[in-house]
Amino acid sequence: MSAEKLTMLAKTFSGLENVLKEELLQIGATNVEPVVRGVKFTGTKETLYKANFCCRTALRVLKFIGEYKVKSTEDLYQSVYNIDWSDIFDLSQTFAINSTVNSEAFNNSMFVSLKTKDAIVDQFRKKFNKRPSVNPDAPDIHINVHASADTLTVSLDSSGESLHKRGYRVGQNEASMSEVLAAGILKIAGWKGQTDFYDTMCGSGTIPVEAALIARNIPPGMFRQEFAFEKWKDFDSELFEDIYNEDYEIPFEHRIYASDISSISIRVSEKNAKSAGVLKDIDFEIADFSGLNPKGEKGLLIINPPYGERMRERQVEPLYTMIGDTLKANFAGFKAWVFSSSESGFKNIGLRPSQKIRLYNGPLECSFRNYELYDGSMKAKKQPGRRTDFKKDGFKPRRQDGDFKRRDEKRNYSDKNKKQ
Ligand SMILES: C[S@@+](CC[C@H](N)C(=O)[O-])C[C@H]1O[C@@H](n2cnc3c(N)ncnc32)[C@H](O)[C@@H]1O
Repeated sequence: MSAEKLTMLAKTFSGLENVLKEELLQIGATNVEPVVRGVKFTGTKETLYKANFCCRTALRVLKFIGEYKVKSTEDLYQSVYNIDWSDIFDLSQTFAINSTVNSEAFNNSMFVSLKTKDAIVDQFRKKFNKRPSVNPDAPDIHINVHASADTLTVSLDSSGESLHKRGYRVGQNEASMSEVLAAGILKIAGWKGQTDFYDTMCGSGTIPVEAALIARNIPPGMFRQEFAFEKWKDFDSELFEDIYNEDYEIPFEHRIYASDISSISIRVSEKNAKSAGVLKDIDFEIADFSGLNPKGEKGLLIINPPYGERMRERQVEPLYTMIGDTLKANFAGFKAWVFSSSESGFKNIGLRPSQKIRLYNGPLECSFRNYELYDGSMKAKKQPGRRTDFKKDGFKPRRQDGDFKRRDEKRNYSDKNKKQ
């Protein structure tokens, strides 16, 4: 196993940097330093693979391959030319360059991408008299260039498609939340699977499915068809196979209750939960939140109500008044959190939040607010008859039982490689 020390950057949404920092520490990352919309860290190849496979709040993971002081186009070209590209990929593979610029020397990201491409292609031509092709849509090798002030950073994107695309989602609606954001708010709310969990406006089921994956410790990468690092020349298939086949699952002894007023949403949610192998942990129900009574024990409730943008002629305020009234009347003793971008909605809840966290859903500034709904006895009572059968029928990542979608029974790259 390579013990080479790598410098990496995991990207995330604004507001989730500290959550991601904790996740990276858990997988053994070192020198972990939150930056804007990301976390810098060091580690080995194992850390890189685990950051992709295990971190629920990472959107992508970049591996730095060079940092240079550049003042001119010639400096840029020469710096990129000096990297040994044939060590990273070969002629038969395609590549693409993604550039971001925030520098006086360079203000055009297309130009930076073009010069980077020229340097890579020229180096291959000089060595082999041939050049690899560019494929902007589905490249084998994703190269990332960032020009900031007088510094040029060249990285390899080890993830490829954004890591929010877990691979289990089979349906969504126009208001579906990113899986990374859902996992992030669950972690901010302290969810570890320790109580019953409720999402009573569940839409396509992103929050309850992510809640079940966290509760069972099923890694988010379990469903992905591929990560970009699998195409790198230095890919260690045995190491990744070991990470993939580790026994991650832990028992989950509580229930998740997910409901929505829309029958279509519940149908979509059920399909997503089945695809993720967690349908057995979630009770789905078509229900209007107004007047809804909890079916299980007191616990954690997170809702992501409509923000108002898509409600057209209807007003958002009465909906939030109803949410506040229902929380007060029926959810005493719960820890409740509401995620929304609607400030006037929040005002109409009529409860004082104990915490307000600023987050974003795409470009929309949102707030995640905590309401402690005291009922005088905050002790969660353990009822008889809770599930104890998790060992018998629990989700086993290595077992294909037709109930969930993953890419392989058991990954074995070494065998695959032997055949070639
Ligand atoms: C912003 S979406 C939730 C999106 C969800 N977090 C996801 O990732 O798909 C809001 C949801 O609230 C539901 N909803 C609106 N009014 C409701 C009510 N009175 N009771 C229950 N659900 C309601 C809508 O049907 C919609 O699915």
